[in-house]
Amino acid sequence: MEKYMDTSLACEERAQLLLEEMTDEEKAAQLLQISYNAVSAEDYERFQRLGVGSYLHVTGEETDKLRAAAQKTRLKIPPIFGIDAIHGHALLNGAVVFPSQLAMACSFDRSLIYEIGRATALEAAADGIDWTFSPVLCLGRDLRWGRIDETFGEDPYLAGEMGEAIIKGYQADNMITACAKHYIAYGEATGGRDAYDSEVTERKIREVFLPPFEKAVRAGCGTVMTAYGSIDASPLSANRRMLTEILKEELGFEGFVVTDWENVRSLVTKQHAAENLKQASKLAVEAGNDMSMNTPEFYDCLLELMRGGEIDMARVNDAVRRILTVKFKLGLFDGKKRPPRGTIACEEHKELNLRSARECAVLLENKSIGDTKVLPLSGDTKTIAVIGPNADDIRAQYGDWTFFSHPEWKDEVEAKGDYYTVLRGIKEVFPKAEILYGKGCGVLEADDKAVEEAVSLAECADAVVAVVGDCLAINGEYRDRADLSLTAPQTELLKRLKATGKPLIAVLVNGKPLCAEWLKNNCDALIEMFNGGDYGGLAAAEIIAGKLNPSGRLPISFPRHSAQTPCYYNRYDGWHGGKYVDIEAGNVYDFGYGLSYSEFEYKNIRLSKTEMEKGESVRVSVDVTNISDIDGTETVQLYINDKISSILTPVKQLCGFERVRINAGDTKTVSFEIEPEALSLVNAKCERVIESGVFEIMVGKNSEEYLTAELVVK
Ligand code: NOJ
Repeated sequence: MEKYMDTSLACEERAQLLLEEMTDEEKAAQLLQISYNAVSAEDYERFQRLGVGSYLHVTGEETDKLRAAAQKTRLKIPPIFGIDAIHGHALLNGAVVFPSQLAMACSFDRSLIYEIGRATALEAAADGIDWTFSPVLCLGRDLRWGRIDETFGEDPYLAGEMGEAIIKGYQADNMITACAKHYIAYGEATGGRDAYDSEVTERKIREVFLPPFEKAVRAGCGTVMTAYGSIDASPLSANRRMLTEILKEELGFEGFVVTDWENVRSLVTKQHAAENLKQASKLAVEAGNDMSMNTPEFYDCLLELMRGGEIDMARVNDAVRRILTVKFKLGLFDGKKRPPRGTIACEEHKELNLRSARECAVLLENKSIGDTKVLPLSGDTKTIAVIGPNADDIRAQYGDWTFFSHPEWKDEVEAKGDYYTVLRGIKEVFPKAEILYGKGCGVLEADDKAVEEAVSLAECADAVVAVVGDCLAINGEYRDRADLSLTAPQTELLKRLKATGKPLIAVLVNGKPLCAEWLKNNCDALIEMFNGGDYGGLAAAEIIAGKLNPSGRLPISFPRHSAQTPCYYNRYDGWHGGKYVDIEAGNVYDFGYGLSYSEFEYKNIRLSKTEMEKGESVRVSVDVTNISDIDGTETVQLYINDKISSILTPVKQLCGFERVRINAGDTKTVSFEIEPEALSLVNAKCERVIESGVFEIMVGKNSEEYLTAELVVK
């Protein structure tokens, strides 16, 4: 037996031993990942013979075939199979489709997110996969960006907590490895334009964008993906400062870095940082990328560089060692045992998915008509009109990153999974009611006849459930929007429905916040589902019927107008209040906001001490009472503001949250330990420090409603 096959040795040691056996050709092959749909048939064969390090977007039996091909190479190094399993193993039609990351984040529930990661890992591994390109730790701060749906929202703390939970779930028992992406500040691209330059400084990166990645590294995340764009004009794929000095040396990241799709080629064709692919390959590897996603020419270029002594061999060896270590950790050399295929969409995962949808839906509005709240609708409601382009459209409900849109766009395919649109959900939870359905219009297409039909259905009904939002044409990768309003045909439809005078309950099925002022002012009730996965429609229906007491909270703020974006809550104070003369100040819905059928009252905020030295921690507690007669779940949120500091600090920053179940009439005391890090800032010299002074500690139900206490740090 080869020494590196000794399972009693540490994975790092096994990787080193194997590395010592490898030729330049074998090393170069390890550093390449290819996609079946982006190389020629000839190259696909060639790279199998060469023992390519990784494949992406290959599933099922094809992975077995490619694993077998690797066994025919000299060293039999197994390839690692990667895929975008970012809300479930959703590129496989029939696997469970969980809510999108943005929708998941509404749960503010670390244990749920861990379970989603775990279930996704089991389904992906059962399909031959070893690696998911997830989680996205970019922040959804510029709402125009097409990939807001993929983020955990706008806040670094929440994104870090959710990211850590899902990474631990993916990597439990080394089932698959995770990939924190896109490193770094990719979502902050100027103008919300995908894969563009981000005009951010290193200080800003350290304050806002790095913290979720720091948590990912601490959680042992196996891989990191380099972003497409550039930071202050410096292409990330060639950015040694970010990839090597900060990520690997300072944060101590021990896994491997993979480029995003074709980043090496883009250094030549899009970013013009290199004259040719050989130069680009050298730049990318020496900056700290360990594996090239695609750009198959990278293999020959790298080999030429190695043979010509033109590349730092210690760097190449380090890259190979990192990749091999991850493979050893995953058990790929040791006959990895995979879950049975029946794990895919098993009952347990479907139940978890239903729980996810239930925790993710957010009730934004519930007005009273007379003395009665509109929701829940009475069980005696005889006729309900379900109207709107997204009422029965699973594509829109799933959002991006399912088999519908990746790896190739598919128009004809039918979803094989068990799924509930709102229409199916309403039919199920109101079995005695007559349900009338009319589409009314498309998300983008007006249809006069369909509007008239929908209005006549509404006129015959006791209540109208209007399901509107966006669709894949205007949501997802490459699909940035300049205008965040609800589209014109849908706005027109809602206006006509409103004019019927019937109770108007709107459900939003969309990838990102829309300008929601009209909805807030005109709908009697409003539910935000985002891309709720298989069971989003059922959860929304259960809320409408009162079978589910909503508990979701917004991980992202809703603007009044497109031009108000960015509108994140953790802004700096400006001189003139940061408002525009032509719209009302403030957001329509704030970060952390969400209603419940229960009512919670906060009292008695207190600190374990009101003065302390730097480096100490302090406990803040608050009593939360459910003053309603319905049991419910509240998400208690902690925010902190450093009142006087050498640089501007956010007006408040989330530093803790806890979901608590509180029965009707009960009081629970909720406490948070405030660790020194929560009181720190990144100063002008880019150092993370705690400065003496007064801190405002806020605990409450969202970023605008809270109790406060003062803490002095000496
Ligand atoms: C490009 C996307 O930016 C990235 O998120 C994804 O993981 C890769 N393509 C692979 O599909």
